[in-house]
Formats: sequence, C-alpha cells, structure tokens
Amino acid sequence: MKKRKTVLITGATSGIGFALAKCFGKEGYDLILVSPSKERLYQTEVKLLQFMQGGKNGIVTICQDLSMPDAAQKINQQLKKKKVSVDILVNNAGVGLIGEAVTNDAEKLNQMLQVNIQAVTQLCTVFLREMYQKGGGKILNVASVGAFQPGPYTAAYYASKAYVASYSRAIRSEAARKGIQVCTLYPGTTHTNFFRRAGKKTPFWAMSPDRVAHIAYNGLMKNREIIVPGIFNRLLRLIPVKMKSKAVAVLKRD
Ligand SMILES: NC(=O)c1ccc[n+]([C@@H]2O[C@H](COP(=O)([O-])OP(=O)(O)OC[C@H]3O[C@@H](n4cnc5c(N)ncnc54)[C@H](OP(=O)(O)O)[C@@H]3O)[C@@H](O)[C@H]2O)c1
Repeated sequence: MKKRKTVLITGATSGIGFALAKCFGKEGYDLILVSPSKERLYQTEVKLLQFMQGGKNGIVTICQDLSMPDAAQKINQQLKKKKVSVDILVNNAGVGLIGEAVTNDAEKLNQMLQVNIQAVTQLCTVFLREMYQKGGGKILNVASVGAFQPGPYTAAYYASKAYVASYSRAIRSEAARKGIQVCTLYPGTTHTNFFRRAGKKTPFWAMSPDRVAHIAYNGLMKNREIIVPGIFNRLLRLIPVKMKSKAVAVLKRD
C-alpha cells in the first residue's frame, strides 16, 4: 500500500490554517497540527476527524508556542521521537499588530516578529534540511497582499510579510535544484479570527477561508510561485504602490 504523505500546518486551529487542514485531510494526507493551546488542538482534531481518511491515527498534534525562540527545534525533536517525517510544510500561523509604530507594545511587537519571521525561517531551515536528504517535498509560506507595499499604521506586520515573501522566493530558487517546491500564498482580507485578535472588525469584503485554502492547495499542487486568491486581490497588485500605501494609512489610522 502507498504510504500517505504528511503535512505539517502551523496555526491549524482556526481560519486559513484550519481550512487548509480540511483540504489536505480530504485529499488523504496525514496531518501534524501545531498550536500553543492543547485545548484548541483537541477541539480541532475532533472537528477534523470527519475529513480524515486515516481517522484519528492520521493526526498528530504538537502544542508549541511559535513565539518561543527555539520553537522549530522543539517541534522537530517531538516529531523525531514520534518517528514522523514531514513531506509538506505549511507556515500559516501569523499575528497582526495595528497602530502607529511608536505606540507598538514592545512585547507584542517581539512576539509578532518571532511568529511571523523567526519561526517561519527556522521551520523552513529545519525541514528543508530533511527534504534535501529525502530529495523531495513542498513548502507553502503564508504572506499577505500587504507584502506588496508598505503599510503605515501596521508597519511591522506588513514588513514581516514582505520578509516572508522575499525569503520564500529566494529559498524557492535554491531548493528547486533539489527537487523541492516552495510556494507563497498572499491572502487578502479573509474572514477569520485575525482581525478580532487585533481588536478590529473583519471588513465586509473578506473572502471565506475555505475559498482561500482551496486556491492555495491547488496553487501548491501546481507549484505556483505566487498564489494570490481572488480577482479583487489580483487586481490590487496593478495599483501603484504609493497609492496603495496611502489607502492603507487612511484605513488603518484610527
Ligand atoms: N485574515 C486575513 O485577512 C489575512 C490576510 C492576509 C494574510 N493573513 C495571514 O494568514 C495567516 C493565517 O491567519 P488567519 O487569518 O487564519 O488568522 P487566525 O484565524 O487568527 O489564525 C491564526 C492561527 O495562528 C495561530 N497562532 C497565533 N499565534 C501563535 C503562536 N504564538 N504560536 C503558534 N500558533 C499561533 C493560531 O493558533 P491559536 O488560535 O490556537 O492560538 C491560529 O491557529 C497568517 O499568517 C496571517 O498573517 C491573513
């Protein structure tokens, strides 16, 4: 019997990550779910069981806060103990931070940079090594349409996503020589817990996370370098950067 492939998804307990977990589960993948909360992992596992071909055995949960500096190493150690290897890595977990840069809370800012930048970089490094040894694998890194321009009043978040985009495209070029595919997803406004966490209302034009995940899954399978879900978000790319940046300033300023 052909061995099922395994996908590790960070931030799989809600929003786009949960929708991606459903997609991969339905397609017959085994799942490794990462979240900082045991309770949310348990609830997510229960919700996902109906989609899993491998039943309960097809899901491994890892309780890990990605804002911890050694998060990637800890995840890797746990997987080694469980003798589970990763065929696809999805770096989806991410947090936002809205407000004028000088007013950003230092601890929140640090946590965001750890989750959005450090954890993504370290997880890519750790699992790319494993994929290089195996001679195959895929990575999907979740950036944002915000990666395409500076974002006044949400400066560090937009910059963190620009980092993800640049880093992902660079390692894509390196890893292609080893038969590994690295793709980047640039979601626009999506109906998830993201805005609630940042203390804001989700805008009415938000896309559904299931739709975003479906497009992301197909883009990854087709090895698309840049995956921008939705015609509106794709059209946004045509607007001059200065104009978009001014619009962000108006939208994000209280
Ligand atoms: N929603 C949008 O409009 C939008 C637009 C562009 C890009 N994005 C990007 O899309 C990705 C997914 O976000 P979403 O919209 O689906 O938001 P979400 O519903 O808030 O989900 C975020 C996920 O990240 C996890 N997470 C947060 N902090 C973490 C930490 N310290 N350690 C480990 N996991 C952590 C959460 O886990 P717990 O809930 O268990 O804590 C949750 O599963 C993010 O990278 C975000 O930047 C979102």
